[in-house]
Amino acid sequence: MPALFDTSRADLTPPRQANRRAGAPATACPHLHATGHPTERDDGAAAVDPDAAMEFLELLHAEAPQPVSPAARMAQVRAEIDATGTYEHTLAELTFGARVAWRNSARCIGRLYWNGLHVRDRRACTTPGELAAECVAHLRSCTRGGRIRSTLTVFAPDRPGRPGPRIENEQLIRYAGHRRPDGGVLGDPRTVGLTDRARNLGWRPAGPAGPFDVLPLLVTGTDGRTEMHALPADAVLEVPLTHPDHPWFAELGLRWHAVPAISDMTLEIGGVRYPAAPFNGYYLGTEIGARNLADADRYDMLPVLADRLGLDTSHPRTLWKDRALVELMVAVHHSYDAAGVTMADHHTESERFLAHRAREHGAGRPCPTDWSWIVPPVSSGTTAVFHHYYDPVDPTARPAFLPRRR
Ligand code: ARG
Repeated sequence: MPALFDTSRADLTPPRQANRRAGAPATACPHLHATGHPTERDDGAAAVDPDAAMEFLELLHAEAPQPVSPAARMAQVRAEIDATGTYEHTLAELTFGARVAWRNSARCIGRLYWNGLHVRDRRACTTPGELAAECVAHLRSCTRGGRIRSTLTVFAPDRPGRPGPRIENEQLIRYAGHRRPDGGVLGDPRTVGLTDRARNLGWRPAGPAGPFDVLPLLVTGTDGRTEMHALPADAVLEVPLTHPDHPWFAELGLRWHAVPAISDMTLEIGGVRYPAAPFNGYYLGTEIGARNLADADRYDMLPVLADRLGLDTSHPRTLWKDRALVELMVAVHHSYDAAGVTMADHHTESERFLAHRAREHGAGRPCPTDWSWIVPPVSSGTTAVFHHYYDPVDPTARPAFLPRRR
């Protein structure tokens, strides 16, 4: 197959982008969490754009020949859109669309296995109770005792005049952020808003409030009513953190959950929007060790660690933050390995990403990439991904995962 562009000059020459449509919002990423981006429509009111549907069917039939001819399927879909304002994807279309949405996620370093995404078709689920039960089933089926499998569950789509159901949580598993009387936060400051909403619906942590209380799911049905559903403890695998050289580390009582499962992005395929389509991969150690537990506006553990490590914190140039950060990363990897929970490291994932990019270029496709999200937050220059320029991000590329308005 002829390449779309000269791959030997991929770093210098912007490729011609396949699959472009004007005026649509930015694509976003499963890897770290999106904020402040252009947003999707939230009313579910619009009829499906037949051009978007045709463009998708062309892509599917070009990449993966189907038992039915493209012309026949296109005619069928046009007729269905004319009659109902929307159309129903076949399972093959849904699966391919979800996988390509991952492939198009310019901020995700973990895309090498995009074509292996396990897709659970739960489009018949519309009520909060049904969604919550299937989110629990998703967690059970993807966790597998620690051998994490990248999985996506698709719930009912938006239909003209009838928005689909939504999951209010940004991830299926998140720790509560409890406001303290002194203005501080106990737990994850990122979830203070959601924790307030859960409390207003009657949620309380099982025991006294702690730093790692798993939040319930808040799910809004097609009727606009939001229901709360607790996650059963056996659906949430967690890893207590220990350090291979410092026995005192365990006393800090740090832990994190095994599965990152983004639940607040809309999956758009061929003009159809699925506002509830939670998906998970596995963690990269940096996400926990260099961000969630380290960021000053998250668990802010570096000063505590520097103190326990006996580091000189009198001046930034003693590099106490850097040294504490590395020890935290060591603890995260050590603990996930000891617990038998899948976790990637930034060095290996960097190599895998470049293999993915080479494979995409070999297939004649651009590999849209957002450098600022792909490059890890620690030791950036020691990873190969740091040392490249990338194909530009096309915010109109579809299928895609789109950030939701907050
Ligand atoms: N960075 C987010 C978190 O720490 C998870 C984003 C998705 N990550 C992934 N490896 N699929 O919770």
